[in-house]
Amino acid sequence: MSVHQRSAIVTGASGGIGSAIAAMLHEEGFGLTLVGRDPAKLDAVASSLDTGPPVHTIAGSLAEEALLDRIVAEHAAPHGSLDLLVNNAGVSGNRAVGDITADFLDEQLAVNIRAVILLTTRCMPLLKEAVQQRKSAQIVNIASNAGKRGEATLASYSATKFAVVGFTESLHDELSTSGIKATAICPGLVDTPMADDYRDTVGPEEMIAPGDIAEAIRMTIRVSRSCVVPEIVLLRPIEWRQPEGA
Ligand SMILES: NC(=O)c1ccc[n+]([C@@H]2O[C@H](COP(=O)([O-])OP(=O)(O)OC[C@H]3O[C@@H](n4cnc5c(N)ncnc54)[C@H](OP(=O)(O)O)[C@@H]3O)[C@@H](O)[C@H]2O)c1
Repeated sequence: MSVHQRSAIVTGASGGIGSAIAAMLHEEGFGLTLVGRDPAKLDAVASSLDTGPPVHTIAGSLAEEALLDRIVAEHAAPHGSLDLLVNNAGVSGNRAVGDITADFLDEQLAVNIRAVILLTTRCMPLLKEAVQQRKSAQIVNIASNAGKRGEATLASYSATKFAVVGFTESLHDELSTSGIKATAICPGLVDTPMADDYRDTVGPEEMIAPGDIAEAIRMTIRVSRSCVVPEIVLLRPIEWRQPEGA
């Protein structure tokens, strides 16, 4: 692999926001390792990225530590370094706080925050190698607007996304002067399968497009090495408005 070839790992790349991020990064010239649970969906995303940098897929659950080791090993083998880690995979679900069970909570904790921290930890040597070779590297964590303001029926999800925002702020504090940038992306409702519970009341044209998230990330990877974008909040016009008369 050429020393000029940048590379990225994208989790949750088998659909939704992750596949839009993968398409944007491929366009930007990144060799990709794409991770998701469903191998058929991952293959469909990979085959949509035809000519260009190499694309490798890995299917499995990020809740399993063995998968995290596999991701790092299979990315390192061809690339030897990692310019961009996108921790995008996530699980949601609406429940009144009194109905939250241990299983419901544990899945969200495992995917939305535990895997984000553990995969980032394991990627540090590869990110540092990218800094050695190309002077910078980046971690993008997909949080949520629910990670900035708690929302009814999203209590445990909001808690995991607040944790993602806090983790990203800590990464910035610890790593920014070493050449590794950290960015939290906090979108409102995005038109993906995760938004299915809202479709009775919100049409797809009223939702943020997955490509909007990809464009926001494109900006963060294009700015100069001396410019860090620590956080981006993307909202629909209706979100976070004061009630009439407030
Ligand atoms: N959609 C929204 O309104 C919205 C708003 C704000 C933030 N977000 C965040 O954006 C990110 C992407 O969500 P999305 O809207 O694109 O949702 P989505 O369409 O449901 O996609 C979720 C992705 O995460 C993967 N995933 C889930 N659990 C996994 C596990 N245990 N191991 C490996 N991969 C797993 C899924 O893989 P498989 O499909 O292969 O199972 C899929 O690729 C999430 O972090 C989400 O919280 C979404």
